[in-house]
Amino acid sequence: MRNPYNKYYLTEEYFGKPYPGLVEFFKAYSERGNVLDLGCGQGRDALFLGRIGYQVTGIDISDIGIQRLNKTAQIERLKVKGFVADIFKFGITDEFDMVLLDSILHFYKNDFKKEKDFLTRVIEELKPNGVLCNFMQKGSKREHELKNIIFEAGIDFIVLSDGYTEYPEYNSEIHMYIIKKL
Ligand SMILES: C[S@@+](CC[C@H](N)C(=O)[O-])C[C@H]1O[C@@H](n2cnc3c(N)ncnc32)[C@H](O)[C@@H]1O
Repeated sequence: MRNPYNKYYLTEEYFGKPYPGLVEFFKAYSERGNVLDLGCGQGRDALFLGRIGYQVTGIDISDIGIQRLNKTAQIERLKVKGFVADIFKFGITDEFDMVLLDSILHFYKNDFKKEKDFLTRVIEELKPNGVLCNFMQKGSKREHELKNIIFEAGIDFIVLSDGYTEYPEYNSEIHMYIIKKL
């Protein structure tokens, strides 16, 4: 399976390094759980998480991205493994303690329903005490949509983080919303 991101992932660290806010959150988080990185790309987050002791499964439709991720993980002997698959069909089983979505949700008009259904399913399938970490471009409308979809899912949760982090490589800001399902 190939996708348009393949050409970008020929460049190392195409999307840059993990955001400072992501680094800070995961370093400080007390449990080193099993993370599912949906739409992991070439693994900037997955590899970072592996290096600080998390176990990570990365899913992406870019075979080039997944190849790069797996090569680095193997060289560094990390507990990180990437698979080429469609995130919109990938089931969230109990083995995953945390689900990471980085730059996957945008809520553009044409994709809204697909992304809403996807996010609702992720929330529903996430196990109790599971953590959902969403990082997306700052924007009051899309942040409102995100929170609304989570609210409408009707689960009990606590908010672990609701703020912004820098994205130095692209001179922009990212909204980070991290919740724990109760
Ligand atoms: C903007 S990139 C973000 C990559 C990574 N999360 C990061 O922040 O570096 C979006 C990623 O989603 C992947 N993607 C898009 N649709 C997908 C699908 N249906 N299944 C799996 N991956 C998909 C793309 O291949 C791409 O790697």
